[in-house]
Amino acid sequence: MTATAAERVQHQGLRGKIISAEQAAEFIQHGMTLGISGFTGAGYPKALPTAIAEKAKAAHARGEEFKINMITGASTAPECDGVLAAANAVNFRNPFQSDPGIRNSINAGNIHYQDMHLSHVEQQIRNGFYGKMQVAVIEATGITADGKIIPAMGVGHCNEVLKAADKIIIEINAKQNPLLETMHDIYFDIGTPPLRQPIPLVKPDDRIGSPYLECDLDKIAAIVLTDSFDRNSKFADPDENSKRIAAQIIDFFDHEVKAGRLPANLLPLQSGVGNVANAVLAGLQDAPFENLTGFTEVLQDGMLDLIISGKMKSASATALSFSPDALQRFNDNIEFLRDKIVLRPMEITNNPELIRRLGVIGMNAMIEADIFGNVNSTHVMGTKMMNGIGGSGDFTRNAFFSFFVSPSVAKDGAISCIVPMVSHHDHTEHDVMFIVTEQGMADLRGKSPRQRAQLIINNCAHPDYRDMLRDYYDRAEKAGGLHTPHILSEALSWHQRFVETGDMRIK
Ligand code: COA
Repeated sequence: MTATAAERVQHQGLRGKIISAEQAAEFIQHGMTLGISGFTGAGYPKALPTAIAEKAKAAHARGEEFKINMITGASTAPECDGVLAAANAVNFRNPFQSDPGIRNSINAGNIHYQDMHLSHVEQQIRNGFYGKMQVAVIEATGITADGKIIPAMGVGHCNEVLKAADKIIIEINAKQNPLLETMHDIYFDIGTPPLRQPIPLVKPDDRIGSPYLECDLDKIAAIVLTDSFDRNSKFADPDENSKRIAAQIIDFFDHEVKAGRLPANLLPLQSGVGNVANAVLAGLQDAPFENLTGFTEVLQDGMLDLIISGKMKSASATALSFSPDALQRFNDNIEFLRDKIVLRPMEITNNPELIRRLGVIGMNAMIEADIFGNVNSTHVMGTKMMNGIGGSGDFTRNAFFSFFVSPSVAKDGAISCIVPMVSHHDHTEHDVMFIVTEQGMADLRGKSPRQRAQLIINNCAHPDYRDMLRDYYDRAEKAGGLHTPHILSEALSWHQRFVETGDMRIK
């Protein structure tokens, strides 16, 4: 029988710290900075955020201020980001989000949001860049008899906030599978410059640390018991566009293996968040590659199924973000998966030095790319935040191959995902090696900006927009400035037209 949440607190002394979420919320005051666990809908606290939100609402009703600063691993879910945003209880938020409620509050100007590379988060907390962190709120699977913390489905920045915070509140969630114990690998010795040593990881599945999180037990102020699943949103089934994108990447891999430039089992794969990135991995299921490995930030359904089918022998990630069906497959196969999946702190999974040394193949989705290969992953029409850069920059800059994938159009064709100039720059032409849409692939390696423009327009743009892009490019060439031809007064006119008319096409 599965142990209850209370039974999972095996440390006798800590059992006395079990209180309700409402009681634990008494430790949280206006203006505090909280380090909150959670990564792409995995391992976030389920009860305390609602209690904090209620406290904020009551304070607001009395005419008092109540807002917290919130540093998570990455995105959480409606029971965390959602309830806090709805209660107007967040002043500052970083480093990544994807909840519609918090996104709307950010875009309405109610929340200060710092969108940042996830590999930077732990080192910036460690070095005090955010000032004092008063409370860490961590979801866990259990606590051992000697007070070690068994992490949940995501590790993220837990290790660091447990060290940084003055007080710790732990939510023990009975729905987290107890067999998660020993799947984690917490590396504690990252160090601070100039004394930092190399991280001794040479293969994606190496274990270099401890299966447990650790903290000063005297800092644990409260333990809250919960019993509910992670967010578990369903991914869209791979559509024709995603299948075409996947097929082109797989053909390219095949070609590189035959040319002797890639090993037969490829290099460690990273796959970004979202439907399209997930679909690309699903496409590898029928591809002629065996013994694949993963070195990724978030492990979604596509990669899980590659491991279950035996196509992928192991994967390293910081969080497991599954649809409800995939969660069931994970739980059904957890004995098989336990030594094949390693869950690490995000400072390790996204570490630029490791990504470069292991030769990771990065595959991330984008909002838009421009004709020279600059990519926008985060902003709709240059001003509205979608989710955030997440780990896409950590991987893209340092990958052996960096792919960006997207359907060539969005919103039923009203938006071209290939534009004259991106409305926000996340990844520059210097980092992006391949752009792939359902129309085709542009291999940008070893190409000048003008050569890249020809490839991106001809291979990747949707036919509805190809002539418009050619026309822009030809006139830009005539205008001079022939290294990166642009007409500055027109470069963002497609976005402006969409804002004004709801369509980038000229009617
Ligand atoms: N302009 C405006 N909206 C656009 C757009 C564009 N150029 N391109 C896509 N969209 C919209 C889609 O219409 C869709 O909107 P909807 O939710 O209202 O239906 C939404 O963006 C998601 O698009 P979809 O095609 O389903 O892509 P996705 O689920 O694969 O997500 C990103 C794409 C870019 C939003 C997502 O990958 C992301 O947040 N990336 C940044 C973080 C990252 O890469 N992390 C990886 C780290 S390891």
